[in-house]
Amino acid sequence: MGLAVKVRKGEAEEVRKKLVEMGVLDRDRKATKRGDFVYFPVTQPVEGYEVVDVDLPPTKKKPRDIVEALKDVLTPEELERLVKSFDIIGHVAVIEIPEELRKREADIARAILAVHPNVKTVAVEEGPHTGEFRVQPVRVIAGDPNLVTVYREHGVRMMLEVGKTYFSVRHSYERKRIAEQVKPGEVVAALFAGVGPYPLVIARKQPGVKKIYAVELNPVAWKYLVKNVEMNGFQDKIIPVRGDVRDVVPRMFPGMADRVLMPLPKTSHEFLDIAMIALKPEGGIVHYYTFGPAEDPYSEAERKIREVAEEFGYNVEVLTRRKVADYAPYVWKVVLDIKLSRVAP
Ligand SMILES: C[S@@+](CC[C@H](N)C(=O)[O-])C[C@H]1O[C@@H](n2cnc3c(N)ncnc32)[C@H](O)[C@@H]1O
Repeated sequence: MGLAVKVRKGEAEEVRKKLVEMGVLDRDRKATKRGDFVYFPVTQPVEGYEVVDVDLPPTKKKPRDIVEALKDVLTPEELERLVKSFDIIGHVAVIEIPEELRKREADIARAILAVHPNVKTVAVEEGPHTGEFRVQPVRVIAGDPNLVTVYREHGVRMMLEVGKTYFSVRHSYERKRIAEQVKPGEVVAALFAGVGPYPLVIARKQPGVKKIYAVELNPVAWKYLVKNVEMNGFQDKIIPVRGDVRDVVPRMFPGMADRVLMPLPKTSHEFLDIAMIALKPEGGIVHYYTFGPAEDPYSEAERKIREVAEEFGYNVEVLTRRKVADYAPYVWKVVLDIKLSRVAP
């Protein structure tokens, strides 16, 4: 039970406005019609109106997060095991559900849809990123089965297919960080380009960039890369190239790049020679992504870079060492920004 102002239907709208002005409407209960009367829930007695004690239904509130949405649905032990953070890529939420909670996946999906009105599809991760294309298998567990989505960041739009193309919303800051270093007139070699997040953000943030060669092996990712370049109107800046960087770089742009991006942490060390073939003879910058043990994430990467740079006659200066993300227990995904300059003869 609770206080409510009781008014005839014909006067309801006017009285509602007055109660709002007075700031006495109780937002936790619903205004309700009964017979010829409307009952407005109020937080205190209001002079000049008939105030009654009445039972009104509670207002339905959108849960704040999935924990709140699931607190009366899952057991405390299940709530404990729930992976609370997940990625939202366009209209698709991608969630990890531990084996022991698989029987609860419908409840978890319902909670995500209730908390995030923009999410239309909930997909569950079915394993880690694998293979040459670094794609992660997923299975749709609720909503629209369509996994082709459009993601927006830093003023660009990217279309991609979740599960068929690599993409991580978690590297948004990293893309901005790299793009902000690019100077007017630069030629950029965006190796391992995926659907194009690095080239697109660079082209948006540095309109003075001369050319960006974006190379991608996965035909599905390449198809979206081409589409994304068109969709954002960067056809004069970004050249999408389908193929293996090992074939493409020596054939299409050897010795032409001021800057080389290597966002393939799993095997980037195998392509350091290709990065150096892409660079201008006088040198330039390489953004090298790799995985490293938490206790010493950079040393092995630096050793490899120095080894290959020496073969190519370059001096190495490490400009930045940065942790990008946790990859696995005690393993970090890291980036090193490297300046290579020609050793004096
Ligand atoms: C970790 S993903 C990064 C994709 C993109 N840069 C991003 O951040 O979303 C690495 C990409 O490199 C591509 N790839 C792997 N080996 C390649 C190669 N030898 N030549 C060109 N692309 C390759 C994969 O298909 C994948 O799309």
